[in-house]
Amino acid sequence: MAASLRQATTLLVHFLIISLLQPTPSTPASLSVRDYGAAGDGCHYDTAAIQSAIDVCSAYSGRCLVTFPPGKYLTATIRLRSGVVLDIQEGAKILGGTRIRDYPRRSDRWYVVLAEGASDVGITGGGTIDGQGLEFVESFDERKNVMVSWNRTGACSGDECRPRLVGFIGCRNVRIWNISLTEPAYWCLHIVRCQNTTVRDVSIYGDFNTPNNDGIDIEDSNNTIIERCRINTGDDAICPKTYTGPLYNLTVTDCWIRTKSSAIKLGSASLFDFKGLVFDNITIVDSHRGLGFQIRDGGNVDDVTFSNINISTRYYDPSWWGRAEPIYVTTCPRNTSSREGSISNVRFINISAESENGVFLSGSEHGMLRNLRFSNVDLTYKRWTKYEGGLVDYRPGCRGLVKHSIAGMIMENIRGLQIENVNMRWADEMSWGWEWDNPLDFRPSTVNDISFFNFHSDLYSQRGRSTY
Ligand SMILES: *[C@@H]1O[C@H](CO)[C@@H](O)[C@H](O)[C@H]1NC(C)=O
Ligand SMILES: *[C@@H]1O[C@H](CO)[C@@H](O)[C@H](O)[C@H]1NC(C)=O
Ligand SMILES: *[C@@H]1O[C@H](CO)[C@@H](O)[C@H](O)[C@H]1NC(C)=O
Ligand SMILES: *[C@@H]1O[C@H](CO)[C@@H](O)[C@H](O)[C@H]1NC(C)=O
Ligand SMILES: *[C@@H]1O[C@H](CO)[C@@H](O)[C@H](O)[C@H]1NC(C)=O
Ligand SMILES: *[C@@H]1O[C@H](CO)[C@@H](O)[C@H](O)[C@H]1NC(C)=O
Ligand SMILES: *[C@@H]1O[C@H](CO)[C@@H](O)[C@H](O)[C@H]1NC(C)=O
Ligand SMILES: *[C@@H]1O[C@H](CO)[C@@H](O)[C@H](O)[C@H]1NC(C)=O
Ligand SMILES: *[C@@H]1O[C@H](CO)[C@@H](O)[C@H](O)[C@H]1NC(C)=O
Repeated sequence: MAASLRQATTLLVHFLIISLLQPTPSTPASLSVRDYGAAGDGCHYDTAAIQSAIDVCSAYSGRCLVTFPPGKYLTATIRLRSGVVLDIQEGAKILGGTRIRDYPRRSDRWYVVLAEGASDVGITGGGTIDGQGLEFVESFDERKNVMVSWNRTGACSGDECRPRLVGFIGCRNVRIWNISLTEPAYWCLHIVRCQNTTVRDVSIYGDFNTPNNDGIDIEDSNNTIIERCRINTGDDAICPKTYTGPLYNLTVTDCWIRTKSSAIKLGSASLFDFKGLVFDNITIVDSHRGLGFQIRDGGNVDDVTFSNINISTRYYDPSWWGRAEPIYVTTCPRNTSSREGSISNVRFINISAESENGVFLSGSEHGMLRNLRFSNVDLTYKRWTKYEGGLVDYRPGCRGLVKHSIAGMIMENIRGLQIENVNMRWADEMSWGWEWDNPLDFRPSTVNDISFFNFHSDLYSQRGRSTY
């Protein structure tokens, strides 16, 4: 009671101040959540105080910062409004609540921080937004954690009934920079139907054994830039999807990624087109899959460039999607009633990979891969984990997992493939050698218009170059 009375008083005072002192557009206003009654002790909910500061801030004309001084701010869902930037300072942490009543009724609005239909919004300051994801672990498991799901309430079904961390839905001019996003209970940063989004100097950390803690999911959005990010998480790190409309112009540069799933994955939700994607200067370490396309629902992909990328991929527990492929380009109908999408004009330039499995390029009969180009690509194949190999992965849906000998590059349903300055190097440990077959494996009657220029495949030994 005392707190809300104090809040009401400070609110009144601030409204008076605002009416007297509207800042000029060049100097953004700045309101501290402390002045609106936030305790910042990590035990009491600061939701009302934070939301008041945001609402007042949004009423200013021009830009306005809502500042979080050092402290821990436990909160239910807070809604970011137009014109407001959250300035979470170094030493400050927003903690997402772990009770279902901390979140809105609709499960698709379960976020700790949510901006909906807002413009000129952002998050910065050098601090942290923490989803307390570990509180959602029912039992810890080296293979895959079992999560507490809120499905019992009937709000949603399955075991993915958990809140996301930060969401921007239908927003314009979004900037997220210099901030850490940690321990999401489910997906971390979700950008949905937005225009003009920049994500820069953002560090994402999710538990390596927690399922569905994706890094950044970009859905049905145009003109998105992601740069200088560090993503270390269990599930897909950067994941463009299309559900209700197309996705145009996504640029990702200067990032470092580690994941138990795919580092970059288009799909699998792919009901509309993807066009104009660039991925440059990216380091991918210890991941279950490197550069991936999982097109399953009829959307077409066109004009994608991957350049200057170092990849290391390995096997993990098979309950995680990925089969250690450095590059995985697949399109097939998810089920018998799905449409078939094509993938065209994809370039891989200056790529270097060390992996436990080969490259998989697989179109479908009515959804071909067209005009793929590999230029300056170094692929090193060796085995260092004990997981079973020898399986080709069409999941989700399609033909599932299929037993098949492993090649340096498997190709099917392709029209137009240009291989230029590509090296394959093979470790010569014979203990596992049985599972590898040919450097190149293609179903000849489905692959047309291929050219090889300066292609090499060679054995090598750890002790130096092989003599045979
Ligand atoms: C991030 O924010 C901190 C704290 O305000 C600041 O010291 C640092 O310079 C910022 N870093 C970048 C890259 O903006
Ligand atoms: C609810 O989630 C649990 C995992 O947390 C899962 O085992 C169970 O099958 C789910 N129940 C339903 C009805 O989806
Ligand atoms: C993105 O651009 C396409 C093509 O102009 C348009 O159809 C779509 O509505 C745009 N999406 C958004 C979220 O504005
Ligand atoms: C996106 O940004 C560009 C360049 O800053 C601007 O011209 C355009 O109007 C913005 N689009 C929207 C929808 O705000
Ligand atoms: C995508 O980027 C191109 C080139 O900058 C631009 O011409 C086009 O309008 C953009 N598409 C959308 C949907 O914004
Ligand atoms: C590549 O990205 C890294 C950060 O991951 C950065 O330090 C480096 O300067 C970038 N290189 C170039 C050529 O931009
Ligand atoms: C990839 O590795 C090479 C050789 O070690 C190095 O020169 C290059 O900078 C690395 N690139 C990235 C994006 O990490
Ligand atoms: C098949 O997949 C489509 C999307 O590609 C989906 O809309 C439909 O519900 C799925 N059908 C079945 C029977 O699962
Ligand atoms: C590929 O690498 C070469 C040599 O380092 C460089 O000159 C070229 O610009 C790179 N290509 C791209 C598309 O980045």
